[in-house]
Amino acid sequence: MIDFHTHLLPCMDDGSKSVDESLAMLEALRGQGVTKAAATPHFYANDESVDDFIARRDASFGMLKARLPDTSWILPGAEVRYYEGISRLPDLKKLRIVNTRFVLLEMPFSQWTEYSVREIMDIAAQGKITPVLAHIDRYLPMLKKTVLPRLLNSGVLIQANVSFFTGFFTRSQALHMVRTNQIHFIGSDCHNLTDRPPDISKAISRMEKKFGDTFVPDYINYVNEIFQQNQIL
Ligand SMILES: [Fe+2]
Repeated sequence: MIDFHTHLLPCMDDGSKSVDESLAMLEALRGQGVTKAAATPHFYANDESVDDFIARRDASFGMLKARLPDTSWILPGAEVRYYEGISRLPDLKKLRIVNTRFVLLEMPFSQWTEYSVREIMDIAAQGKITPVLAHIDRYLPMLKKTVLPRLLNSGVLIQANVSFFTGFFTRSQALHMVRTNQIHFIGSDCHNLTDRPPDISKAISRMEKKFGDTFVPDYINYVNEIFQQNQIL
């Protein structure tokens, strides 16, 4: 299982505050059967250059590497805040999750403009970047019904948070979307061990409960296939 959205790199953003906290978060994910964890600290183009961000991220990852024998399953990337014009950011490619075409995009918390929808579709059409929309669950209530199908038809992928699967009012929609291939990746979006913990197993057990034991291995295969198709080796 892949955890596609985490803030587990130490001292990068509002996520893990120390190497020890990061190690504990990683151990929790491992214990829940996670085989790959994308490390996706916030990137805000207004605040720093892509190169400065990557240098900071490498230093943070270096602190983890010094304490962990195997970091090959941790995949540095970013959660990139969308802004109109982002497709013209020459370094956007550098923010892909390492050795893949995926860029995890955090969309605005207001009605998406037609321009922004088209811009994401354009990024996908160019073929070098596969946009993955972070925590779609946060936007669904305000999205026009036509937006998601258009994005999906254009090759844009969708990440949902574990909380979508556990929320009393949202879980049936989450399960429907995962069963109809409208959710490609699940992320714990973990920031710490307490109020925003690594809890990917909760989404898995929801799926098992609803669809039975065979669903989850099939879903994991489906996710792994998408991952492999987007790998750059
Ligand atoms: Fe996040």
